[in-house]
Amino acid sequence: MKILLLGKNGQVGWELLRSLAPLGELVAPGRDDPGLCGDLSNLDGLARTVQTVRPDVIVNAAAHTAVDRAESEAELAHTLNALAPGVLAQEANKIGAWLVHYSTDYVFDGSGSRPWVETDTPAPLSVYGRSKLEGERLVQAACPQHLIFRTSWVYAARGGNFAKTMLRLAQERERLTVINDQFGAPTGAELIADVTAHALRQCLRQPRDAGLYHLAAAGETTWHGYANQVLDLARLNGGAIKIKATEVAPVPTSAFPTAARRPLNSRLDCQKLQGTFGLALPKWERGLGRMMGEVCL
Ligand SMILES: NC(=O)c1ccc[n+]([C@@H]2O[C@H](COP(=O)([O-])OP(=O)(O)OC[C@H]3O[C@@H](n4cnc5c(N)ncnc54)[C@H](OP(=O)(O)O)[C@@H]3O)[C@@H](O)[C@H]2O)c1
Repeated sequence: MKILLLGKNGQVGWELLRSLAPLGELVAPGRDDPGLCGDLSNLDGLARTVQTVRPDVIVNAAAHTAVDRAESEAELAHTLNALAPGVLAQEANKIGAWLVHYSTDYVFDGSGSRPWVETDTPAPLSVYGRSKLEGERLVQAACPQHLIFRTSWVYAARGGNFAKTMLRLAQERERLTVINDQFGAPTGAELIADVTAHALRQCLRQPRDAGLYHLAAAGETTWHGYANQVLDLARLNGGAIKIKATEVAPVPTSAFPTAARRPLNSRLDCQKLQGTFGLALPKWERGLGRMMGEVCL
């Protein structure tokens, strides 16, 4: 089996290089690859890459993920997050390939407190959320053999993320303020990549399992709870953390004005994924503990 992977240098893409390796031959062009085009802004180049490689599976982990910057780069976000996955879907469909793609909790408006299910109506609050939602729709329309995973609050040992930012700030500052009215589940790129490989293998044998799935670690927290967990784990691992738990102040979203609005309720109900693929998603603290063990070495 041949797999074309896009976005190999991102948090999820890097872990996919590991988790997909045992499934077959991996072709993973970089963004500036002189040979195959791995640049999502080059739609013709992307189509040619699929036609040249003729993969059995395309996995797209690349995206415009700078949520605030997307507000002033709407056209670029639309190209990378909507048009590019649409082209990948069309090209995949032409050659009978599967397409795996990732989306986000930011397709929802964050109202209420119930975890979102796949059939809930999306209503994104931001340019990023709208571009990701359109990407989902273009994939669904062009390629029935797809897996779309909506995930949330992604972290990894490699790459930039909230956990690593908190770790850095806690080494530099005496006091931190962190939002405590947005709820969700920090989800490790390792988990996303491992679930992708498992679900993909099942779909190749059982194509009726194609579709859209929510994929997040179990449990829930706020950014404030998440920050405290990061700092507790850092202390346990011997990190040089100056800040005491009482010095991490909880604040509402309104205390941190940002270019993009974010949903207050980012909880994702993952029962469909767990039932279809026979999985038990671990609590968010588990993966975070593992990641912190790596970054605090
Ligand atoms: N991060 C989150 O909290 C989060 C939450 C929910 C859903 N998601 C979704 O999960 C997926 C993976 O996210 P992630 O956290 O792994 O993102 P990430 O770490 O930001 O990685 C995104 C990758 O896309 C690449 N990229 C950007 N522009 C590109 C272009 N024009 N052509 C090719 N590649 C390009 C980036 O390359 P460079 O490294 O060269 O910039 C980067 O390697 C995305 O679909 C994202 O929307 C993420």
